[in-house]
Amino acid sequence: MTQAWVRVGSINDIPRRGARCVKSGEMSIAIFRTADDRVFALEDKCPHKNGPLSQGIVHDGCVTCPLHNWVISLETGTAQGADEGQTMSIPVRLDGDEIILGLGPAK
Ligand code: FES
Repeated sequence: MTQAWVRVGSINDIPRRGARCVKSGEMSIAIFRTADDRVFALEDKCPHKNGPLSQGIVHDGCVTCPLHNWVISLETGTAQGADEGQTMSIPVRLDGDEIILGLGPAK
């Protein structure tokens, strides 16, 4: 199956250790930028109680949920430590400064 790759803006629009949200249909996707300029995309919903991960703190390849401080891996979307749960992760790549999301199969 071919992935549909969609350009969603520049990495320069996201502060380091910050995030920005884009919509895909009904889903909000949080795109994170790490301190070393890697990008990751997760559904903007904490696996605990749907907290907005895009408003969390990015550190060490993870984001800490702003509501109850669960720590979620940016790469896999899984909760770290004793907490259990997983948020959907979305394929993302960079083309120069441009962020490209893999949004499901091509139509
Ligand atoms: S909703 Fe994220 S830690 Fe509770």
